[in-house]
Amino acid sequence: MKLIKFIFFKLTRLIYLFPSILILRIKGLKKNYIYNRDKKFLIESRKEMQSILFEIENFLLTEKKNEIDKIISEYLKQNKYYTEIEFLLSENLQNKLLKTLKEKEFIQYLSNFFGYQLKFNSFLIRLNFFNSTLPDNEGPKMWHRDNDSFFGQIKLFSVLNNLDTKTGGLFSFIPQKFIKDYEFVSNSYVDHNLSLQDQRSRVLNSEMNKIRDVGKNIIEFGKNKNEFLAVDTNDTYHKGGLMKQQGSLRLLLQVIYEPHYNLLSNYNSMYNRNILITSIKNILTGFKNRLRTKIEI
Ligand SMILES: [Fe+2]
Repeated sequence: MKLIKFIFFKLTRLIYLFPSILILRIKGLKKNYIYNRDKKFLIESRKEMQSILFEIENFLLTEKKNEIDKIISEYLKQNKYYTEIEFLLSENLQNKLLKTLKEKEFIQYLSNFFGYQLKFNSFLIRLNFFNSTLPDNEGPKMWHRDNDSFFGQIKLFSVLNNLDTKTGGLFSFIPQKFIKDYEFVSNSYVDHNLSLQDQRSRVLNSEMNKIRDVGKNIIEFGKNKNEFLAVDTNDTYHKGGLMKQQGSLRLLLQVIYEPHYNLLSNYNSMYNRNILITSIKNILTGFKNRLRTKIEI
């Protein structure tokens, strides 16, 4: 049964991504070919990105400081710990950032790494802030995978401001080399204090820690603000965003790159308008999750 599920999982992925793989083969695989079967994430730095993100950090933390303080106090009243603030950027900064993120050569580089043609979809800037009233173990701060797209969607992250272990806010993930895309971890008991979604689809720290050697394989990203991380969050366990220090905040750039042909995605402009696409995406994503094999602890 395990083998059949594995074959179906891989086959479904291949069929879905095949047109995007084909396009890459035709387009530019020979140039700059770095596809690595094992390493399914990329942590690197890129000068053009560094300089625009440095400008954005300065702009947000100086010119927009008062507005950010106001936003934080508003959201704290609603007992939240994050919000999106890309609307604060000037038009000039937005355009510069978009130009860098949409650069053909860069998208080609990412496409070659992941093995299929990617295209830019959208970006946001997330503001995370300290909220002493919220528990560590809830929502996206618990181990989870996203369900945004059926297969192949890549999220690129870069932290704009300085973070360390004291401030918190680091993004943790477990590389697919350790927990494969076709495997899953489940909680051995139900924590009724959690929301239904957390109970059903997210993994407690204590449960993840039961997996042998997991601690050695967790990667924490965000201490070096010059770096970016590109990873498939739909197939890689991750968590993050918990600020630990009073007054600390995190500014995070999140960019969506998706397969060239990607109909089954929450980021598809038709997703919310076309009930057929919404239903097919949700049914197939559920089917995909059922094809995964549980890791026995
Ligand atoms: Fe996530």
